[in-house]
Amino acid sequence: MLKYTRQSDPEMYELVEEELHRQEKNIEMIASESTVPLEVMELTGSVFTNKTLEGLPGKRFQAGSEVADKLEELGWKRAKELFGAEHVNLQSYSGSTANYSVFASVLEPGDKILSMRLDQGGHLTHGSPANWVSKIYHHDFYGVNPETEQIDYDALEEKAKEIRPKMIIAGASAYPRLIDYERMAKIAEEVGAYLMVDMAHIAGLVAAKLIPSPIPWADFVTTSTTKTFCSARSGMVFCKEKHAKLLDRGTFPGSLGSLHFHTMAAKIWSLKYAASPEFRAIMQRVLDNAKTLAKALSERGFRIVSGGTDNHLLLVDLRSKNISGKVFQNALDRVGITVNKNQIPNDPASPFVTSGVRIGLTCTAQRGLGEKEIIQIADIMEKVAAAPEDEAVLAACKKEAEELISRFPLYPEGAFED
Ligand SMILES: Cc1ncc(COP(=O)(O)O)c(C=O)c1O
Repeated sequence: MLKYTRQSDPEMYELVEEELHRQEKNIEMIASESTVPLEVMELTGSVFTNKTLEGLPGKRFQAGSEVADKLEELGWKRAKELFGAEHVNLQSYSGSTANYSVFASVLEPGDKILSMRLDQGGHLTHGSPANWVSKIYHHDFYGVNPETEQIDYDALEEKAKEIRPKMIIAGASAYPRLIDYERMAKIAEEVGAYLMVDMAHIAGLVAAKLIPSPIPWADFVTTSTTKTFCSARSGMVFCKEKHAKLLDRGTFPGSLGSLHFHTMAAKIWSLKYAASPEFRAIMQRVLDNAKTLAKALSERGFRIVSGGTDNHLLLVDLRSKNISGKVFQNALDRVGITVNKNQIPNDPASPFVTSGVRIGLTCTAQRGLGEKEIIQIADIMEKVAAAPEDEAVLAACKKEAEELISRFPLYPEGAFED
């Protein structure tokens, strides 16, 4: 691995080796993570990284675009086929810039956006006061019903009628349930708003056709390609044909500079891979394992927000265990299980402490863990929650976690040998 860097910069080489070993021996359960296939690794390191181009195929601002044009057009074909979309723009650098491209396409400063509350699952780019978009647009928020902890569509409709936003955003970073896109599209139509669905977290599950797709319902669908889609650190945007020109202009020159053809190549490889039975089987395992973990944890006295999960993640309310998200995250980290603290709906604790954790099942499913191993992870979590500061318990749990994950290599043996 890294034959040339190893010679020219041993210090850097060591850091990459160290990170590889960290990933190998940890049970990664951050919901936004995945392990990219080796082809994605190869393509992100390919010569396409050398090419500077702006604009669309046939309308580039620089010369030497003939191969990159073929690449991007291949991507359009694959993306439209896989997702059944009318139009796609593959130029975004990430899920965040995908969202910015849509805003740049159809919104004016001062326009109103209605999106999901950030403390109930929404994303920074949907209107956090800490994100620049909140300085440009006016944000208002919808949330979940306190009983069901699922989106309260009646309240959403009422709010949309009251404020008449220019755009409604569906999609979240920490929402374990399916979203009723049809209902949201009707609400958007009624109030004359664009519907944008940010499917960053669930794109892989949608590509595998295991959960409903937002594409038929939304004006714009954005995604990051790193999460369940298991590809390069990049983004994509789909839209209805009638918005195609606006989206393309909003992307370049509206919100991006020169294009990243190395990550585009990797995404385009993934657009083929995502149509394969192998990818579908992994996504099915993600869904099965998430349900298994939700059940196993609730049998062990944890409360699962909204009572379960329909996707790759679950939110766990830790109050019944008298432990904060921060303490649980840190204790699990010490035993080699990586999760993140996360607020639960109507959380009395601050975002820095939290009453919950978010757990994602993508990486473990990719490594091949199944029901038996997921139940063993629930057992370890129960022991850690009961004694988060007990050195002997943590040491025993660490040994157990390491033994478990060592049976499921991150990459096939020898993948990184020179
Ligand atoms: C819902 C949602 N949208 C957008 C993003 C941003 O994606 P990226 O990290 O690729 O910019 C995230 C990532 O955390 C997300 O959860």
